[in-house]
Amino acid sequence: MDVGIPKEVKDSEFRVAATPEGVRELVRAGHRVVVEASAGLGSAIADEQFEAAGAEIVPDADAVFSAVEMIVKVKEPQPEEYPRFRPGHVLFTYLHLAADERLTRFLADTDVVSVAYETVQASDGRLPLLAPMSEIAGRMAPQEGAAVLERPRGGRGVLMGGASGVAPAKVVVLGAGMAGANAAQIAAGMEADVTVVDRNVDRLRDIDRIWHGRIQTVMSSALAIERLVIEADMVVGAVLIPGAKAPRLVGAETLSAMQAGAVLVDISIDQGGTFETSHVTTHSDPTYVVDGVVHYCVGNMPGAVPRTSTYALTNVTLPYVAAIAARGIDDAVRADPELAAGVNVYGGAITNEGVATAHGLEAVPLSRMINEVDESRP
Ligand SMILES: NC(=O)c1ccc[n+]([C@@H]2O[C@H](COP(=O)([O-])OP(=O)(O)OC[C@H]3O[C@@H](n4cnc5c(N)ncnc54)[C@H](O)[C@@H]3O)[C@@H](O)[C@H]2O)c1
Repeated sequence: MDVGIPKEVKDSEFRVAATPEGVRELVRAGHRVVVEASAGLGSAIADEQFEAAGAEIVPDADAVFSAVEMIVKVKEPQPEEYPRFRPGHVLFTYLHLAADERLTRFLADTDVVSVAYETVQASDGRLPLLAPMSEIAGRMAPQEGAAVLERPRGGRGVLMGGASGVAPAKVVVLGAGMAGANAAQIAAGMEADVTVVDRNVDRLRDIDRIWHGRIQTVMSSALAIERLVIEADMVVGAVLIPGAKAPRLVGAETLSAMQAGAVLVDISIDQGGTFETSHVTTHSDPTYVVDGVVHYCVGNMPGAVPRTSTYALTNVTLPYVAAIAARGIDDAVRADPELAAGVNVYGGAITNEGVATAHGLEAVPLSRMINEVDESRP
């Protein structure tokens, strides 16, 4: 199959949908990979590296879209990209269609087979193409929070690891999932005093088994969270209820009892936030202060480390790209229910229930259009 990698055009997006390693795998399997010139520069990947891996470099996006059957991207198509699509194109990218009616209708009307990274789903409910970004945001949280804890950045001037004879920072992580467990791991690596809170005792058991008490675990309750938060130097919000707004675990009243210069890092801000006083911020202006407490609420944390993010993302997308390229989309989704769950638009119809409901449209089961597709969901 001919596979196209255009340069991302969304504001401040520096990732790219393939790496030279991924290109080489596809080329070795007999596919043609067409990459737009300078597509990898934001992730510190030069055209020559793609070329050496076997890609064909073309000067602009039009040349990519017109040459290939499958487009692999990172972010949802922007309006300037719409005219480049043609009926029958397969698009594989983060789409978030429930939030974008115009794009949903465009993809259906143009008959673009649209497969969304964020709805590819394993039978146990895991979302394998979202996990690496949670891992990265989790690992960034103590690093960003530690910088903000420094006095010149508005924090209370506490060093994560303390010093000989001086206590380390107290870090509380709310949520022991992908983001939270990674935040706790890095904070512990910085030698902070780390406590993780979750409502799922199995998650806490996993952490206890690995860390042998080096990271403390606490079952989630309003009282336990209040006690921990008012003594903390840093609180990381990393809770998630899939498909819902993040639960607000720290209210304004608890915040007012916190230590001046304490830091909140709200990773869950993309789902509304763990703290009542959170609102989304950007990398160029990441923090603000409420009641003397510094809030860091950047909605796209992995965007600051595009090279790591590009590699982490493409490591998990490549097997699906390779499967679609090898078998064609129909056969690939027949063979893999995880990938079938990723199909949002097929044959001009909306095949994802959530997306259809969001826009008052009727969902058509994928199995009605491609026979023998297994649509069993967790
Ligand atoms: N800001 C960013 O740049 C960025 C990047 C990636 C992910 N995220 C977000 O990070 C959040 C966490 O993602 P994840 O992949 O770690 O999710 P996850 O499902 O792996 O973990 C969420 C955890 O929250 C726990 N939880 C739910 N309700 C709770 C409660 N009341 N008390 C205590 N724990 C509770 C769950 O039991 C689970 O262990 C999501 O909102 C995700 O969208 C943000």
